[in-house]
Amino acid sequence: MKIVIPGGTGQVGTILDRALTARGHDVVVLTRSPQGRRQVHWDGVTHGDWVKEIDGSDVVINLAGRSVSCRYTPENLAAMMSSRVESARVVGEAVAAAGRPPRVWLQMSTATIYAHRFDAANDERDGVIGGHEDGVPGYWAYSIRIAQNWEAAQEQATTPHTRKVALRSAMVMSPDRGGVFNVLSRLTRLGLGGPVAGGRQFVSWIHEHDFVRAVEFLIDRDDLAGAVNLAAPAPLPHREFMRDLRAASRMPVGLPATRHMAEIGAFVLRTDTELLLKSRRVVPGRLLDAGFTFEHPRWRSAAADLAARRRRTG
Ligand SMILES: NC(=O)c1ccc[n+]([C@@H]2O[C@H](COP(=O)([O-])OP(=O)(O)OC[C@H]3O[C@@H](n4cnc5c(N)ncnc54)[C@H](OP(=O)(O)O)[C@@H]3O)[C@@H](O)[C@H]2O)c1
Repeated sequence: MKIVIPGGTGQVGTILDRALTARGHDVVVLTRSPQGRRQVHWDGVTHGDWVKEIDGSDVVINLAGRSVSCRYTPENLAAMMSSRVESARVVGEAVAAAGRPPRVWLQMSTATIYAHRFDAANDERDGVIGGHEDGVPGYWAYSIRIAQNWEAAQEQATTPHTRKVALRSAMVMSPDRGGVFNVLSRLTRLGLGGPVAGGRQFVSWIHEHDFVRAVEFLIDRDDLAGAVNLAAPAPLPHREFMRDLRAASRMPVGLPATRHMAEIGAFVLRTDTELLLKSRRVVPGRLLDAGFTFEHPRWRSAAADLAARRRRTG
């Protein structure tokens, strides 16, 4: 298949490009800074020569969006919103205008769309969309608005010959340098892998191999459209998540951090505490109903696999 990945140069794009290319697919990445013949220039906003790549392709997987690992300043929040909504809009226009449109358009969304909650897990049918929770910082609602507008940009595109799927993905875990797992395991090996703010908040995650397998499953299954959660079936409290990560990293101790310490750490790392403190309890209802099985359903063994691979590759 010819698979076009707008925004495919980042963490998730690298995982998909590597796996899909290894399976023999023809992968083309759209990027603002192309390098090599498999990368094509686009700006994520306007039409250009890149639309020719979409026309005649089989699959489009749009991942573009300003990184969310940053301080949530008004400027950064605005860029997080516009880069996602605009890129989804322009991809939709290219799909709609194509003489030979792709069979399926997978559009990245996020598991962050669901409410901060502890009481029950969010699946696609009964899950609660966030934005109205009590006792959380007001700006957390903005992340949910971004996700909603991102999904709406895909929904509003008129693409009668192209199936549309929104990937409500949890954190994708791979040993790659700069990825979430790499950052967390580095902090853990420094002795900083303790629970944050009590550690009650749930963590949802998905192993890179299951992420790729779920994407392939969704490409193949013509009966599945709309929002689909991509997350391992057993999200767990942050305290247990870090305990398993410490075990996988062979680090017996992990300094617990208060909310205030997390604020300072996030400031130093130029990121935001929402990524640590929000309770993300998300489960893959539609994938399981459709018969998808996870190779890495449990965090303990997934973390052990990722840590062993990180050690092997240095
Ligand atoms: N990583 C995860 O675990 C995870 C989980 C759930 C959802 N997501 C979402 O999935 C998407 C991909 O994640 P990722 O971790 O691979 O992100 P990433 O490493 O930050 O890569 C995102 C890509 O988007 C492009 N981009 C950045 N700013 C842009 C802009 N203003 N206009 C157009 N393109 C822009 C960049 O490509 P160029 O600079 O090459 O143009 C970049 O490679 C993101 O939207 C993210 O929010 C990620």
